Amino acid sequence: MYRVIIATHSYFRERLIQDDLFPISYNNSKLPEYNSAIEKHKFKPQIPIDLPIDIDAMKIKADFDSVDWSFDNSTRLESRGVHPYPAKFIPEIPREIISILGVPKGTAVLDPFCGSGTSIAEAQRLGLKTIGVDLNPIACLITRVRTGSKMPGLKDIAQEISQKATRRKELWRPQNVPNLEHWFKDSVAQSLANIVKEISVSAGPIFGDALRLALSRIIVRVSNQESDTRYAAIEKPQGNVYRHFVLAAEEIEKYLELRNWIPKPEPNIICHDILDLTAKKIGQQVGLVLTSPPYPNAYEYWLYHKFRLAWLGWDPTAIKRKEIGSRSHFFSSHPHTEFDFLRQMRGLFALLKTITVKDAHAAFVVGDSKIKGKIIDNGILLRMAAKENDFNDVIVYPRSVASNRKAFNTKYSRAKSEEILVFKRR
Ligand SMILES: C[S@@+](CC[C@H](N)C(=O)[O-])C[C@H]1O[C@@H](n2cnc3c(N)ncnc32)[C@H](O)[C@@H]1O
Repeated sequence: MYRVIIATHSYFRERLIQDDLFPISYNNSKLPEYNSAIEKHKFKPQIPIDLPIDIDAMKIKADFDSVDWSFDNSTRLESRGVHPYPAKFIPEIPREIISILGVPKGTAVLDPFCGSGTSIAEAQRLGLKTIGVDLNPIACLITRVRTGSKMPGLKDIAQEISQKATRRKELWRPQNVPNLEHWFKDSVAQSLANIVKEISVSAGPIFGDALRLALSRIIVRVSNQESDTRYAAIEKPQGNVYRHFVLAAEEIEKYLELRNWIPKPEPNIICHDILDLTAKKIGQQVGLVLTSPPYPNAYEYWLYHKFRLAWLGWDPTAIKRKEIGSRSHFFSSHPHTEFDFLRQMRGLFALLKTITVKDAHAAFVVGDSKIKGKIIDNGILLRMAAKENDFNDVIVYPRSVASNRKAFNTKYSRAKSEEILVFKRR
């Protein structure tokens, strides 16, 4: 069976043609990039007429065409979320992808970079088995709570915990925040330490995660940090930490109450470096991979959650070291390049090869990066890693990103558009 690749402008970059990854079919032959590439390389693409057509690809392309992928007006409950998270999926994206690609009976949906668990929640909504992996414990905490049972009474429990916490005088402070007093007023640090301790003493296993998530929600709000994405300490009104905590618990309780599906089956959430996971640890057959990977030099999830991680007892720098794409790796003495991302994606696909069933689809939503001023087409790197590991291209589909979407830092990535890449396991 030959591949049918649905061409988009990114296919026409000269590098791609040099790499012999040119498209078999092409929609946009009028594009100047395309013409200049042909000129330069004397490349005359032709559609071979006697090739069998990959019906699966044709059908997927037609189904993708029937969806408006911009979702500019996504106002669903899930997009507000239980907790802030950078670069999260608009829920409609995984929803549509699952409905188009389907999931073979008895297999699970895997998101190897599940972040706040949007794809996992969407798959669970359809009653599918799910596996979510993320390096960042805050991501795993959000995903667990978001896909866990309802929590009636959570606000009242938070209230009780707060009352007990006010009587504490904890001396403990997070070890991993240099200059803690610069970022947290003494009184705020005292209240946070008291709440952390009281949760660990009296929350119990059922409410523990949701209460830790409530605390995580308020950390930036009560710190001196200007905002989630601005790392300057400023003078700002913090309000009452205990009250914020109770309100956050109330929000989480309401969120779970309004969720309109039964949270079953329970997802398998694995808090781990995906590049260091084995098939045995995953332990299930995967019929659909659905993810948006971290981009090189584009975002720092560990930094976004730095104070939250530290207050909840994790070490942000340990996460930074293993975080794929983290900007800190591109400014070190041995700076990463796009080839490190290629190596990492090869590692990912080598794992996917061992856990996916034959004909399983893998969908990646990905944009470009900018490294030292150079635009990096992450889609091509992913396609190379996939190809080497028994995943065929099915389609590459462009998706425009709403201009009001602030999750991306456009200084480091070209986030006006993304591509949805679909592969199929040979
Ligand atoms: C684009 S975000 C995913 C967002 C997600 N789709 C959502 O809706 O929230 C990429 C995720 O990759 C995770 N990540 C980065 N390096 C990783 C690694 N080595 N192993 C597993 N996860 C990693 C980050 O923590 C981040 O949550």
